[in-house]
Amino acid sequence: MQTGRRPIIAGNWKMYTTPPEGRALAQAIRARAEPLAQVDLVLCPPFTSLAVVAECLQGSPIGLGAQNMHWELEGALTGEVSAKMLLTVGCHYVILGHSERRTCFGETDAMVHQKVLTALAVGLTPIVCVGETLVQREAGQTEAVVYTQVRSAFADIPSADLGRVILAYEPVWAIGTGRVATPVQANDVHRRIRALLAELADDTTAARVRIQYGGSVKPENAAALLAEPDIDGALVGGASLKVETFLEIVRAAVS
Ligand code: PGA
Repeated sequence: MQTGRRPIIAGNWKMYTTPPEGRALAQAIRARAEPLAQVDLVLCPPFTSLAVVAECLQGSPIGLGAQNMHWELEGALTGEVSAKMLLTVGCHYVILGHSERRTCFGETDAMVHQKVLTALAVGLTPIVCVGETLVQREAGQTEAVVYTQVRSAFADIPSADLGRVILAYEPVWAIGTGRVATPVQANDVHRRIRALLAELADDTTAARVRIQYGGSVKPENAAALLAEPDIDGALVGGASLKVETFLEIVRAAVS
């Protein structure tokens, strides 16, 4: 993390927590999070818990994010949720292109791009996930894969808008596996992503965009990851479902 970029820790609750469980988790995090002057904190519950978590977070600096959305603002699209709906329920953030969406639900780079455009148009901050599989890493394709994802997600987006996005580098082989990228491995990819952002926009924009690391972030590895110069935060899955482990990761971001 470098001074100038404020760390951002987001909890991706995935398909866990009923609304009562979400309320309890959000209330406990709010009650026990230390003053959040130096770090942005975001909770991303499932759709059905957004309203109740929004209520718990009212008046607090903790942000609310969704885990997905459709790119159309409305329509005959059974089972989908729009950006407008997310805004109305109190979201400021939306995770887009998570590898579980890409792998389990066939989301393509083109779909992620449409979603990024819509999120930016309505004023939601997209947290755009990119990352390579183990096979791709072992074949030496990490940079090519991640570059294709980033180029596609941000195609034709003006620099001013690019400056508003958050990226999450999540190597697929590290998600939910307990296998974490080393701080050096992760920072290396973050640095290359930032270089690409400078090419797509300019140096100032690239220096401003926050890039989170995600994939088995735990209290034991958070401090070392977050100490790297190009790692500006974490997108936390499993460890965000327990109050104390999540808050330890938040503390690691400010120490
Ligand atoms: P994990 O998930 O922390 O459980 O590996 C991270 C993510 O999928 O965002």
